[in-house]
Amino acid sequence: MKELPVPLIYEESAGGRRGVTLPKPDVPQSPLPEDLLRDDLNLPETDEPTVVRHFTRLSRQNFSIDGQFYPLGSCTMKYNPRMNEEAAGLRGFRRAHPLLGAAENQGALGLIWKLQESLKKITGFAAFSLQPAAGAQGELAGVLMIRAYHQSRGNRERKRILIPDSAHGTNPATCTMAGFTAETIPSTPSGELDLGALKNACTGEKQATLAGLMITNPNTLGLFEPRIREIIAMIHDAGGLVYGDGANMNALLGVLKPADLGLDVMHLNLHKTFATPHGGGGPGAGAVGAGPLLADYLPGPLAAKTGETYGPVTPPRSIGRLKAFYGNFGVLVRAYAYIRLLGREGIRRAGEQAVLNANYVKALIQDLYPLPFGADRPCMHEFAASPNLGNRLSTLDIAKRLIDYGFHPPTVYFPLIVREALMVEPTETESKETLDAFAAALRAIAGEAKTRPELLTAAPHDTPVGRLDETAAARKPVLTYCPGTRSREGSVMRLTGLISKEIYPRTIRTKK
Ligand SMILES: Cc1ncc(COP(=O)(O)O)c(C=O)c1O
Repeated sequence: MKELPVPLIYEESAGGRRGVTLPKPDVPQSPLPEDLLRDDLNLPETDEPTVVRHFTRLSRQNFSIDGQFYPLGSCTMKYNPRMNEEAAGLRGFRRAHPLLGAAENQGALGLIWKLQESLKKITGFAAFSLQPAAGAQGELAGVLMIRAYHQSRGNRERKRILIPDSAHGTNPATCTMAGFTAETIPSTPSGELDLGALKNACTGEKQATLAGLMITNPNTLGLFEPRIREIIAMIHDAGGLVYGDGANMNALLGVLKPADLGLDVMHLNLHKTFATPHGGGGPGAGAVGAGPLLADYLPGPLAAKTGETYGPVTPPRSIGRLKAFYGNFGVLVRAYAYIRLLGREGIRRAGEQAVLNANYVKALIQDLYPLPFGADRPCMHEFAASPNLGNRLSTLDIAKRLIDYGFHPPTVYFPLIVREALMVEPTETESKETLDAFAAALRAIAGEAKTRPELLTAAPHDTPVGRLDETAAARKPVLTYCPGTRSREGSVMRLTGLISKEIYPRTIRTKK
């Protein structure tokens, strides 16, 4: 690669080239209003093949689950069966106008109802709302429901929500957004919730202000909380409610119904557990299920069935609407197609295989990548290792080096309680060969760390951009073309939509 591979489409522009052939107008032509016409619009002029190649080239620069293994812990990047896409692309679903009345929209409403019913069967909850657009919004729905419940009983002083220190960052953020105070409960050295600390936080004087607990099971260390029933009972005895973060449901599929544990409300990340793998900021669906205490508070509308007819309903004490119309409908279609494709048996096998795959990878690398929590017990669908590669190297170096081996890096530096965390979630859709190759790459990298550490610190070696300032990329993204910055370096950075040259000058690498 002598040259940077992505020229800006503007740089390929040549005056007068066209990529479209418009049909002759079938209405009388009339001039556009003068004040709408602009001479200063600097639009690229290119032919169709140039545009197609440009975007194809760009797409190849992206990591994707269709191209590579993507063991991003906590994100469940499983392969998305094509059948789901076909279902979501069916004309009747794709073209359905959101303002259609129920009578004209029976197919879509029927699908929503059937998906609600399937999720009820899988989880054991009494009712589901498919409104929320992401796991985090599902959390917000659930926590607002808990607030509405306490307020309806006159318990406005119940303002504290307890959250384990291993929790996903969205949990405390959600509490704060909903007007609660998030209070951290530590984990024990074996990675479980510290029940002594939990008891202190919900008994005595503190009991009256307890609103509830948010808990993820299996937790983000990939460990099942064996004393979950005891934990839930402790919160209920103190008058609190328990929110289940169901983002890790992949590990429990077909084996355990979370509602049977006594959880009051829980979200599922449909875009993780039931296909549509997330990442890249695409649309999601954070379906919320509720037990008998909270079902009436679910965000609406839900789909209901009367006789053979489907229609929208809003639960009597609903916290209201969280998303326009019926949520991210395309994701719902994919989730329903996925559930029907697998069936009861397949769903269970998916969960079991996800757990088996994680344990297999863990066993292959654990001697070089030790686990600070749960090393001596089976993990669930993921595990968090803490690489010990000497002072000069970090987990980030390993992650970057994995890109050279053709793998998407696992999640790094999360959960926060694991030093230099490397969090691996292989999912059920990967073959033994892929898992072996991934483990071999990690082992090879551990060897390189000893003999040629510079290979890690300078990685990745073959990508158009290397190490980005991720904070600046998120806070100051450059998403539009800026004329006058047409240098090749500037082009690449602007096209990746990430950063400006000033923010991180050393991101561009050219191979000799
Ligand atoms: C444990 C856990 N909780 C909550 C979330 C938030 O889900 P989302 O990214 O859809 O908002 C995630 C994200 O993957 C997660 O892993």
